[in-house]
Amino acid sequence: MQVASSDEPTGSGAERADQHPGAKQADQHPGATRADQHRVARQRQRWTRRAPGWDHGDMPGLEKVAKAVLDEAGSPAGKVVVDLGSGSGQLTLTLAREAAVVHAVDISPKMLELLQARAASDGITNISSLAVPLEELTLPSASVDVIVTNYALHHLRNPDKQRLLDKAAVWLRPGGRIVIGDMMFGRGSEARDRQIIASKVIAIGRKGPAGWWRLAKNVWRYLVRNEECPVSITTWESMLRTAGFTGVRSYSVVAEAAIATATAGKAAAG
Ligand SMILES: C[S@@+](CC[C@H](N)C(=O)[O-])C[C@H]1O[C@@H](n2cnc3c(N)ncnc32)[C@H](O)[C@@H]1O
Repeated sequence: MQVASSDEPTGSGAERADQHPGAKQADQHPGATRADQHRVARQRQRWTRRAPGWDHGDMPGLEKVAKAVLDEAGSPAGKVVVDLGSGSGQLTLTLAREAAVVHAVDISPKMLELLQARAASDGITNISSLAVPLEELTLPSASVDVIVTNYALHHLRNPDKQRLLDKAAVWLRPGGRIVIGDMMFGRGSEARDRQIIASKVIAIGRKGPAGWWRLAKNVWRYLVRNEECPVSITTWESMLRTAGFTGVRSYSVVAEAAIATATAGKAAAG
């Protein structure tokens, strides 16, 4: 029986390497603690296991969010694009058809292997794969035009989210855009959070015993292991501003999924 992933929007419409020179492996990073290393190893293992079945085909909600991210990103023609937590290429492959280059970053080498296989079968050759945890990604300053990400950043702890945004603001050229698509809700302090949490529990619980098992695993990941760390739309907005982005905008797409987008540097309006 197919069970909805915790990484897909639930509720309405959603029921159902190459090594880059600037990238470091967290498990090799001198500052990485044992806990960091375990966390990275667990995430890599988890996503490597899920990689062969990871597709948006049977997840219409996720498809809508990916489309919203691509729409917000605008034309990638001739641009340098970075896809954070690229998976097997759900954003990257579309962007690479017009971009100068897309750097696909993911913790799972298996995901990137699948991405490159898809690219090769479509004759796409301008994708560079970076098999590194986002927590340890480094890129040259002002080297990127657009940063996109879909359903990946809730896997980072909150301080790591902020650090990533701080670095992203430096990697982008002035006027460059960041577009974040993700599940966005907090731990219940806002009414929207409580509504989303309740609807997720109901949607997963309705799937019967397999759903209840999924629910138990999600509660474990969310509350105990801290592997799923979504934050609210307002928190994303405030983190973007803290990182120095301007023109910050956000909106809900479907169920708990939302977009937050902003512009880097002084060239931004607003
Ligand atoms: C839900 S999938 C989304 C994939 C793709 N963006 C999409 O739209 O389908 C989350 C992706 O984030 C990656 N990921 C999770 N934690 C990560 C981390 N700390 N660093 C880099 N990638 C990570 C996973 O390997 C997985 O490919």
